[in-house]
Amino acid sequence: MNQLVDSFQRVHTNLRISVTDRCNIRCFYCMPAENVVFMQKSHLLTFEEIERTVRIAVSLGVNKIRLTGGEPLVRQDLHKLIGKLSHIEGIQDLGLTTNGILLAEQARQLHDAGLSRLNISLDALDPKLFREVTRRDGYENVIAGIEAAQQVGFERIKINAVSVRNLTESQIVPFGHFSRESNVEIRFIEFMPLDADNAWEREKVLFAHEIIKTLSEEIMPLIPTDEDSPESPATGFQFADGVGRIGFISSVSQPFCMSCNRFRLTADGKLRNCLFSLEEADIKSLLRGDGTDAEIRQAMLDSIAAKKEGHEINTARFIQPDRPMYSIGG
Ligand code: 5AD
Ligand code: SF4
Repeated sequence: MNQLVDSFQRVHTNLRISVTDRCNIRCFYCMPAENVVFMQKSHLLTFEEIERTVRIAVSLGVNKIRLTGGEPLVRQDLHKLIGKLSHIEGIQDLGLTTNGILLAEQARQLHDAGLSRLNISLDALDPKLFREVTRRDGYENVIAGIEAAQQVGFERIKINAVSVRNLTESQIVPFGHFSRESNVEIRFIEFMPLDADNAWEREKVLFAHEIIKTLSEEIMPLIPTDEDSPESPATGFQFADGVGRIGFISSVSQPFCMSCNRFRLTADGKLRNCLFSLEEADIKSLLRGDGTDAEIRQAMLDSIAAKKEGHEINTARFIQPDRPMYSIGG
């Protein structure tokens, strides 16, 4: 078989690759505040190892790649990896998710190397709140990064904002206006149990329907769009006058596991068939131990075949994975 199909008939065409677990900020929903232990550099897949893995994945039908971290732009010469990947035939979409801190200085290089899509994480438009979330300075750098990205020609930029109760409420309307003025889509992502501090509770999630209500009342009604593909976890909306796009990733209130087409490669070369997997397949050992392409292909097929139905966040059975978000790759 030449496709990554699981036992629920989900076809996996979307691979997310973490290129480092390091990060230059410390978002509370992802990392601990201090004393983070990072992977040894020698454990990170090299660009050549990543390229080989991607070529094998593409031979199994993968056509969409997204690079993540940690913070991918702290990986030295990331644009060189993008250059390698953008030349692989069969990849229709090559994206990057970044916190934007280093984006202003790298935007041009990334664009020239062939990067097609950019998502920038930004949880607050108020610099003080930004600091509370990230425990670091850098708000101005992110804003400069967004502007630089637009200037060098990135289109349809998305801003990811994690939505957290008692935190995000004051930012909803400012983000609504920001999407209208800056021509970027704001995507609110419900806070998920992937924080290193293990402090997630369902009560701390600000749900998509609450944000939709606020935006509709305070700005103007939101109308669903059909721009997003059926596999996309995001539900898209537009303000009624057609100006400003808002999306929602309602992982907690409306799980989308049944249409999931994604799997992940961690920076240390482990394949994960779900964000919330408790098991991983060790691709790095194959890459470094003379594994053949056929063996790596089989490891991918086996990993996807073993994928569970869904994440069970909303049940008492849920077990939070040992790896927090920065070490899985968002
Ligand atoms: N819940 C929801 N989203 C998260 N992200 C990181 N940790 C979490 C979490 N616990 C998001 C980041 C980034 C993307 C890679 O994942 O904000 O936009
Ligand atoms: Fe860094 Fe991203 Fe984690 Fe924030 S969410 S600490 S930007 S890796």
